[in-house]
Amino acid sequence: MNGITRRGVLKGMGAAGAVAAASTLPAPYVRAATPIKAGILLPYSGTYSRLGEAITNGFMLNLGKSGDMLGGRPVELVRLDSEAKPPLGPSNATKLINGEKVDVLVGPVHSGVAMGMAKIAREEEALTIIPNAGADQLTGVLCAPNIFRSSFSNWQASYPMGKVLADRGTKRVALIYWNYAAGKQAAQGFKDGFADGDGEIVTEIGVPFPEVEFQAALTQVAEVNPDAVYVFFSGGGAVKFVKDWAAAGLKDKIALHGPGFLTEGVTDAQGEAAEGIETAMHYADTLDNPENKAFRAAYADRFGKNPDVFAVQGYDAGALLRVGVEAVQGDMDARGDLYAALSAADFASPRGRFRLSAAHNPIQDFYLRQVENGVNVVKGIAVAQLADPAKGCKLA
Ligand code: PHB
Repeated sequence: MNGITRRGVLKGMGAAGAVAAASTLPAPYVRAATPIKAGILLPYSGTYSRLGEAITNGFMLNLGKSGDMLGGRPVELVRLDSEAKPPLGPSNATKLINGEKVDVLVGPVHSGVAMGMAKIAREEEALTIIPNAGADQLTGVLCAPNIFRSSFSNWQASYPMGKVLADRGTKRVALIYWNYAAGKQAAQGFKDGFADGDGEIVTEIGVPFPEVEFQAALTQVAEVNPDAVYVFFSGGGAVKFVKDWAAAGLKDKIALHGPGFLTEGVTDAQGEAAEGIETAMHYADTLDNPENKAFRAAYADRFGKNPDVFAVQGYDAGALLRVGVEAVQGDMDARGDLYAALSAADFASPRGRFRLSAAHNPIQDFYLRQVENGVNVVKGIAVAQLADPAKGCKLA
């Protein structure tokens, strides 16, 4: 999907347009007739396309809870394919903020795209909700009053599995990851957790993003023969890696772990190769709470498939936006009150409690999970209520 497409989720827009044109009406009435524009910058093509789709579905599902209205105003989505290409981040953000004049930016998935997008969002002081990209800096040294995250930081998503393996006494671990910000920061998070034990990282292999040629890495790992391998791959790349791992005969020899992205939204495509893989993540399919049950049923009903962590992050981006917009009764210019409400958000998410740190990154439980019959089953809590260290953030 190239270029901008619109999905007017509005009801009665004809009448609304006529009301808006009557300039003598008081501001709240005009506002009520004018849509809140949400600019969605997500990958709808390439290796992360299924993440973009799940996030969009989750976001729409949340808006649908109130008839696609927030704070008394209809919401209009303007979608743009980020293509998960970092060089396009700034120009796409400019298109949405200055061209489309969106009220809120929702995106992206890829940390490199996020860095470029956030540069523009900071300059333009545009309200931004990041429903995936984990770049540590965005809620660290580059944190900003207008930037919020409904997902995780890269460090945060990988520290827990490192800690679990350290506590288990795992000795020799190899790392394989896409060699860009997300993979490198995931490696650092894992190492920080693993440093609690007396194990060592025996080798570290980077693969260029979005390459899915893993043979050289697999050969190298087989030679080193570690006790466990920790990998960062997601979307189409995760499908390919897990299948290649099994095909290379490593599945029954070396324990494979990762942040949960490795098995999120892809177990149907991975099939038997995914069975038994143990990961840590801020979500699991089987979480036993009322919000998760309702969310999974509503998602399956509307989209005809099961949701995943990316859908949850999109859903919670909608929930977060709802908190802000309702607090200012649809007045998106009331910046101080809007940001204060977003910062103080505290609601029940399918993942459990949702609340933000002073740096605007979720403080959340990380679950230990294992794939059973294609389902990411919760096995326990790897690290409870984990906050990102938010290095260099001066918001608090
Ligand atoms: C990222 O680039 O920040 C990223 C992408 C995909 C994931 C997680 C993080 O699953």
